[in-house]
Amino acid sequence: MKTLLISMLVCVVISMVFLYGCSSKNKSCTKTQDFDSIRLYKLRNDAGTEVKITNYGAIVTSIKVADRNGDFADVALGYDHVKGYMNAVDKPYFGAIVGRYGNRIAKGKFTLDGKTYSLAINNGPNHLHGGIIGFDKVVWEATPIKGEGFSGLELTYLAKDMEEGYPGNLNIKVTYRLTDDNELKIDYYATADKATPVNLTNHTYFNLAGEGNGTILGHELMINADNYTPVDETLIPTSKIETVKGTPFDFTTAKPIGRDINHNNEQLTFGGGYDHNFVLNKTKPGAMTLAATVYEPTTGRFMEVFTKEPGVQFYCGNFLDGRLIGKAGKPYVHRGGFCLETQHYPDSPNQPSFPSTILRPGQVYQTSTIYKFSTK
Ligand code: BGC
Repeated sequence: MKTLLISMLVCVVISMVFLYGCSSKNKSCTKTQDFDSIRLYKLRNDAGTEVKITNYGAIVTSIKVADRNGDFADVALGYDHVKGYMNAVDKPYFGAIVGRYGNRIAKGKFTLDGKTYSLAINNGPNHLHGGIIGFDKVVWEATPIKGEGFSGLELTYLAKDMEEGYPGNLNIKVTYRLTDDNELKIDYYATADKATPVNLTNHTYFNLAGEGNGTILGHELMINADNYTPVDETLIPTSKIETVKGTPFDFTTAKPIGRDINHNNEQLTFGGGYDHNFVLNKTKPGAMTLAATVYEPTTGRFMEVFTKEPGVQFYCGNFLDGRLIGKAGKPYVHRGGFCLETQHYPDSPNQPSFPSTILRPGQVYQTSTIYKFSTK
């Protein structure tokens, strides 16, 4: 109980340095939003793990976890200032909740109940991560929460009917909980007053050796997926579900991310490396199951990912190129971070054979993902 109270006390606003320079007068703050209400919150648990989250974009800005010797490092890529997130070069979506539709929608178009909707084309010929001002670029309402064995933050946002071209008012709630078992648990809820596609995910880039500490190519990754969804050259799924067996996409047994990344393989060429949706092995749709594990041998840090989602986009930071300087002042080199974005498959609104992403009035969208940290 005492530790719970302490952990709640440290779940405080620590925003002044982070926020310096952002106000409604700031030119980089383009939408009519209450930028003055942007805050940074800190969660802390018994193990000394610390997670920082801002209500700008519901972004996880930092995750400090111990290595096998008890030394702490920040394993999440990001900026030390909210302006970094607002002006992001090449829009990496560091740590954000992305939506209304995380991942790509082909040509920014989909037809629902006989009506065709047009979305922003913001990634080659396609729509990506909810558009120009997606959920990663809006100010959410935040409320600290607490309970037995966790401290957390509840974030809500109302996406208006036709915001970024999507139909229906969408009420979203995302809760982050840091548990004393070293889990960062993310629960997502949404309801809509019109049928609409919804695919929410978190876009944290991890480097378990510490942000800015080189590439992630030596991290050993296991993905609990016998199949994946191959893509065309614009990263839209071809509709096929193919086995990973005998391909560089076979992560069913843990292997270093870099082991097969330079194979002569059309899919790797299209992605510039791994940037693909894996079809998670599930006993039952919607079951909370192990999606992936990642082990960083030099520090011993180990991360497990559990999710109710049917897929995970494994993206290995192919578009990082050393121009972004991280929180510790070190450049984020090519493949200096990886994402495991738990989600429905890309372009599902245009792919009838994929699990549906359509939320209808009266239904409740609910999904959960856990990133659990330990050492080996
Ligand atoms: C996409 C990548 C993209 C990255 C940042 C990932 O979810 O799959 O292609 O570069 O997000 O936008």
